[in-house]
Amino acid sequence: MTNKYMYFVANWKMFGDLRTLNTLKKVITFVKKFKKKKFKLIYCPPSTLINPLSKMFKNISIDVGAQNCHSNANYGAYTGHINSKMIKGVGAKYVILGHSENRQLGENDKLINSKIKSAIKTGLKVIFCIGETLKEKRKKITKKVLANQINKGLNKIKNKKNILIAYEPVWAIGSGMIPKESDLFKTINFIKTKVKGAKVLYGGSVNNKNIISLKNIDNIDGFLIGGASQNSNNLIDIIKKTYN
Ligand code: 13P
Repeated sequence: MTNKYMYFVANWKMFGDLRTLNTLKKVITFVKKFKKKKFKLIYCPPSTLINPLSKMFKNISIDVGAQNCHSNANYGAYTGHINSKMIKGVGAKYVILGHSENRQLGENDKLINSKIKSAIKTGLKVIFCIGETLKEKRKKITKKVLANQINKGLNKIKNKKNILIAYEPVWAIGSGMIPKESDLFKTINFIKTKVKGAKVLYGGSVNNKNIISLKNIDNIDGFLIGGASQNSNNLIDIIKKTYN
């Protein structure tokens, strides 16, 4: 059983609409009642739902985050984009940056670095995602890949207190596969030696079954949950089991 302050981040990806919000009532009731441990639940819905969600969570300690933002904190001619100021303005306190699904669409470390700087400047907290591909894992270059993502992504950022790191192996996302416990422990430790004092979350196929083993890895500070977070019962189950 863990006694630690843990983060649970629900990344809804490109799922959810206004009707989905009804399903969150049970999460609100759960968070109100579950006084057993201190934890932080953060919902990162699509941008269209940031404002409705932050209104819904107004009187409860659930935070809302965005899934990405533009690197320019000022307004400008960037069709289809929103910036850190805009998402903060509608209630977001966090933003996920560097997610592999966006890296795969062409986001590079330099762009991610400028997004992180812009978000921090605006006063948002950042959930900075890093992770190796299956090919890189097989080549046994995971540490090298992570070190590179960290060095470039956090380049010239001195104050890292508003940055949470999420280790999400690309091969574990949506695949049902998770790293071996011993490997995961070592990788999280490696990340913590690279970024002193950082809170490190794990993401990739976290569900209400594998949480039973994941919660035993005691250097993990929380979980970034994709698919399973769209179902309120599953998410509640994940939180409960973390503390059982
Ligand atoms: P899954 O939990 O669906 O594997 O997604 C993980 C993820 O990408 C969270 O950011």
